[in-house]
This record gives sequence, structure tokens and C-alpha cells, in this order.
Amino acid sequence: MIIASNLKTNLTREKTISYIKDVENFIQKISSNQEVFVFPAMSSLNSQASRIIQGAQNAYATNNGAFTGEIGVEQLEEFGIKTILLGHSERRHILGETQTEIVKKFNFYKNLGFKIIYCVGEPLEVREQGTNMMMKYLELQYEGVDTKYKNLIIAYEPVWAIGTGLTPTLEDISNIHLKLKEKSNAALLYGGSVKANTAKDILACNGVDGVLVGSGALDVKNFCNMIQTAQNIDTNN
Ligand code: 13P
Repeated sequence: MIIASNLKTNLTREKTISYIKDVENFIQKISSNQEVFVFPAMSSLNSQASRIIQGAQNAYATNNGAFTGEIGVEQLEEFGIKTILLGHSERRHILGETQTEIVKKFNFYKNLGFKIIYCVGEPLEVREQGTNMMMKYLELQYEGVDTKYKNLIIAYEPVWAIGTGLTPTLEDISNIHLKLKEKSNAALLYGGSVKANTAKDILACNGVDGVLVGSGALDVKNFCNMIQTAQNIDTNN
């Protein structure tokens, strides 16, 4: 399964290095064969990660150049990074990234062969309009995206579930994932208030191939706990 930690704008460089080291030691200790990703803040990227896949939370569609405040391929390459998170709801809704801008980044990093974790998800007011409206909204977030790209992972993250402690019911997660799976064969993660004590049920849902976790993974013990949970599910299957 795929277990991913999005550290967002949290942890210093020193704390991130120690976080990744703890995760890697844990993976070794339990001989985990889960696919584990960590997305550190830009200033905390480091090139020492080996057992986890380190990804960028964002980058501009450029090798380098005059784009104040952005980083490009040249900066990612310094850390051996070949994985990027795109379309996250915080970038769409707080930082105002449009679908057109996201697709531009998608195509740029796809052409470089990057692994792309592409996020989709609906806000509460859309969810409240019912399943059909929700699916229509989600469909727009697939527009322009190559859903057959071999290095694509999709993450379904309802905006109203991110950082709120709220989650859809397990039945809803499963139903939505199965609908989204009709659009792409890519692995499909669930994200939005996943916690160490809810990961087991969520990971066991039909159509869920892994989780993308924010606040619930900030404490490294909780994140390791989720890796263990995924490992147990795989071992028992
Ligand atoms: P939370 O786990 O804090 O809800 O965040 C989820 C998320 O946005 C992961 O990308």
C-alpha cells in the first residue's frame, strides 16, 4: 500500500531529518514493503533519504529562471527528487492555483518522468449538493490530466475533511473511490483527517490503495503506526 506524509509548512530542517530517519529505521525494523512517501517543507528537503521516497509539495514548471519565491527542477535535482504533489486543495483554494496552472505543471513534470501524486477533492458546499454535483465537480479536476500516465497516483481529499477531524463515512469513501477508479487505473489514495486509529478501517475500504496524511502524521510515531497497519493488512491478505 502507499502511505504518504504531507508535512505541509511544519517542522524545521533538523526535525524533518530526524523524522525521516525515524521512519526509515522503523521500515527496516519491521521489514516493511509498503511504499512510503514523505513531503517535507521546501527548506527541509535533504538528499539522505533512502528507504522512503521524498517528494516536493510543489515546484514551478521550469528548470530554473526568474520566478521569485519558486523552485524548479535544478533545485529538486540537488536532492534527487523525482516525485511531486500537484493539485493539493491548499494550493487550489488558499494559494489560488487554477486547473490550467496545475495542468501546466502536470505536463511539465510528466515529461520529465516524475512520479506525480495528483490531488482532487470537493468543498463542503459542493458535497452538500449531492453525489451527481460532487462527481461533476471532481470531473473538472481531471480535465487536462493524463489519467493513463504510468507514474501517476491520485489522492482523493475532500476539502472539508482536511484538518477538520471530519471524514466521509467508510461507505462513502469506498463508493467515491470506486467511481473515481472508473476514470483512471492509477493507485488511489484517501486523504483528509486520517489518524493512527482510523487508518486501519480506511485502508481496508474497497478502492483505497493508500493514504495521504497531514496532521495525523506529524508525530512520527503515529505515521509509523500507519505503516505498521498497512503492513498488517497486506500480511493478512
Ligand atoms: P489532514 O490529514 O491534516 O487532514 O491533511 C490531509 C492533507 O491535506 C494531506 O495532503
